[in-house]
Amino acid sequence: MQDTQKTPTERLESMRAEALVGGGEKRIEAQHAKGKLTARERISLLLDPGSFEELGMLVTHRSTNFGLDKQKFLGDGVVTGYGKVNGRLIYVFSQDFTVLGGSLAEAHAEKICKIMDLALENGAPVVGLNDSGGARIQEGVVSLGGYADIFHRNVRASGVVPQLSLILGPCAGGAVYSPALTDFTFMVEGSSYMFVTGPNVVKTVTHEEVTSEELGGAQTHATKSGVTHFTAPHEAAAIEQAKQVLSFLPQNCEEDPLFLNYQNTTHEKREKLDALIPESAQQPYDIREAIFEIADADSFLEIQKDYAENIVVGFARLAGRSVGIVANQPAFLAGVLDIHASKKAARFVRTCDAFNVPLLVLEDVPGFLPGTDQEWNGIITNGAKLLYAFSEATVPRITVITRKAYGGAYDVMNSRNIGADMVYSWPTAEIAVMGAKGAAEIIFRKEISSATDPAAKLAEKEAEYAELFAHPYNAASRGYVDEVITPSDTREKLIRAFDMLKNKVRNTPRKKHGNIPL
Ligand code: HXC
Repeated sequence: MQDTQKTPTERLESMRAEALVGGGEKRIEAQHAKGKLTARERISLLLDPGSFEELGMLVTHRSTNFGLDKQKFLGDGVVTGYGKVNGRLIYVFSQDFTVLGGSLAEAHAEKICKIMDLALENGAPVVGLNDSGGARIQEGVVSLGGYADIFHRNVRASGVVPQLSLILGPCAGGAVYSPALTDFTFMVEGSSYMFVTGPNVVKTVTHEEVTSEELGGAQTHATKSGVTHFTAPHEAAAIEQAKQVLSFLPQNCEEDPLFLNYQNTTHEKREKLDALIPESAQQPYDIREAIFEIADADSFLEIQKDYAENIVVGFARLAGRSVGIVANQPAFLAGVLDIHASKKAARFVRTCDAFNVPLLVLEDVPGFLPGTDQEWNGIITNGAKLLYAFSEATVPRITVITRKAYGGAYDVMNSRNIGADMVYSWPTAEIAVMGAKGAAEIIFRKEISSATDPAAKLAEKEAEYAELFAHPYNAASRGYVDEVITPSDTREKLIRAFDMLKNKVRNTPRKKHGNIPL
């Protein structure tokens, strides 16, 4: 039937029906055959049932280049709108790979920009479901302009509303930079890729033979580059992770995160913590065990868990309150701070600070990693990122020193002198410039080398240094540590302290913006 023969309602209904199938049933089948969902199926999984309001369903491109005038699809390859996640407003765009490979050009970009503008003006998160062949080649420079419009908005919205990027297909070229500008990236194993240039270009330029998976698959970005914060075995799991992240964040930077109802009916003592620290300071233990004991049951959501494993970061709840945890991991490289760990933690600290999530630091750190590799790659600048991030954070921040707090790393890990609101220490803490053996070797070098029994002399001097510093009481006597606590009391102490700090206001000097060492 011609459009003119339809009633107005029939005409609208048929256009809606046309828009709903995107690139058509065959392409939807192909999408499913790849184990991927369609743009609309993804939105249904993300949003509360019946809450989606679509905008721009009838938008089309205006290009006539290379036969595009005969390839017009209602919606232009992206589904945009707003809806609710667990009752809270979000804005969403979902690229439709069945339409011209989800490629982005003028109209497609305008639709995304529209919901980003609404998100910024109304103070609610933006979730992007990315599945696109990148800039629509036929439309040329307007495709590039469209991306740049989005990047610009990503930056304007950064720190104002949470922005989440799910990568659910290819993401190539400049298209990776929008996700990179957002707060959290999620990838799906086996079906999502991110790279600036694909394997073919790599082969031409560097003669490296590499598969898409090796170059920019989920595992690569989870372990080698740290570009993705989460990986999931399938799309539904990635969407669930995104919802979890949203549950820890406020709608915008003017609000506090949601406080979940917490019934303080049980005893908050956690006896397991009293036995957590091994007898020897050289022995590792898993700091996650401390986190699991301290946080509300099953509340810990680890971020970038397979990248820079010497530091653990993630969201958790403490008596219903959303907190960001940064913890040295003695079970991996002794919990040393290196370039990757510093960058990972600094980014997380800034994310928490931007969105009013209080910070809890669990500290067991032997220092910064020495060596040419670290120095030549800039451990100075990169370590300074974490120092900067903690120092500038105005959210409530509490440190618990469980064992080692040595050297510059002690200062960096949210020490009293860089503005921690509270510092607790377990009796097992050693707060010093370095470990007793290293210290003795340096300051008593002459005495040791001239001794008749150098080994015995070293042991004697080591014990002397340990007596003075291998405990928390020197730091406590200076007030650098507010209280030395029994480990099993940690949870109770933290619940009270975060509650005490809930109205904290810390003003910062007026400035345009700081100059974090990038
Ligand atoms: C126009 C595109 C397209 C694009 C894919 N298609 N990418 N159309 N512009 N960028 C179309 C294909 O022609 C095809 O149409 C349909 O989408 C499905 O693509 P296939 O290739 O059949 O799918 P698949 O085998 O799954 O491969 C997906 C792909 C591949 C890996 C994404 O299509 C690809 O390499 N595309 C080009 C990627 C790219 O170089 N993009 C530009 C990056 S530069 P038909 O009708 O034949 O089925 C960039 C600059 C951004 O993005 C700048 C920002 C600063």
